[in-house]
Amino acid sequence: MHYGQAIFEGMKAYHVDDETIHLFRPKDHHQRLNNSAHRLCMPEVDEEVFIEGLEKLIALDHQWVPKVHGHALYVRPFMFASEEYLAAKVSKEYHFYVITSPVAAYYSEGFNPVKLTTSEKFVRAVRGGTGEAKAAGNYAASFLPAQKAQSKGYTQVIWLDALENRYIEEVGTMNIFFLIDDKLVTPKLSGSVLPGITRRSVIAIAKKWGVEVEERRVAIDEIIESYKEGKLQEVFGSGTAAVISPVGLIHHNDETIQLDQEKIGPFAKKMFATITGIQYGKIDDSFGWTHPISLG
Ligand SMILES: Cc1ncc(COP(=O)(O)O)c(C=O)c1O
Repeated sequence: MHYGQAIFEGMKAYHVDDETIHLFRPKDHHQRLNNSAHRLCMPEVDEEVFIEGLEKLIALDHQWVPKVHGHALYVRPFMFASEEYLAAKVSKEYHFYVITSPVAAYYSEGFNPVKLTTSEKFVRAVRGGTGEAKAAGNYAASFLPAQKAQSKGYTQVIWLDALENRYIEEVGTMNIFFLIDDKLVTPKLSGSVLPGITRRSVIAIAKKWGVEVEERRVAIDEIIESYKEGKLQEVFGSGTAAVISPVGLIHHNDETIQLDQEKIGPFAKKMFATITGIQYGKIDDSFGWTHPISLG
């Protein structure tokens, strides 16, 4: 507890029909958990223990998986150090748990575009740090800047890189995408960005649609410029909670990018429909991302 060896994952289980529940890309979540464990000097979890454990837990708790489309069972695997020892050293003992909770549809009242601001003072993570791990401490560090942003009327902070305070990294608990001139642009995984599973899915689907995808450094000035030139078509976040979250506004220093506050753009909307369609078994999963749990 004192030295912060704590990591977690977050995914969802979806009701398909009375015999089937889908997990979405659980092996990717397992891999990311182990990458996080490696970074924080924690033991890895066996793939079999992880996957079979999830299958058994969800089959046992299947009545907690909401049947309403859009609702789901949130699944939270987590691990923390538990050795009773005071010195600052790697723990010899850990607890690994999985807890679940039913969650309602993120957008039960329609899409709600988020308002983002950069932070002049704070950074989330620096290359070489723990930003690409799903480490508990990353979230603790982000709460104060998020609170300050919220007190000014913004939903979340859009993080810039810690070295130059110039390149966009990610948002709160989402990765971020920009549709510029019909190209899908997203910050590359620089070492301080969490490699989102939804981000990976968005990129794969966009490529399948024949959309050009660029994973590269994205300066905030470039986004402001492309907005002023009328080339910025859509901005949206990606993450397990909301899947796709339209961005309505970005504030940086004295500049404000004002996108459509009322609704989600057509690209983001189609992406949302495609990913959720796959998750709920309504669209054919040609990627092999869904992991069915049979209740029969
Ligand atoms: C910091 C951060 N970035 C991005 C994401 C999106 O990741 P995913 O798509 O795997 O949920 C999350 C959520 O897990 C997050 O906490």
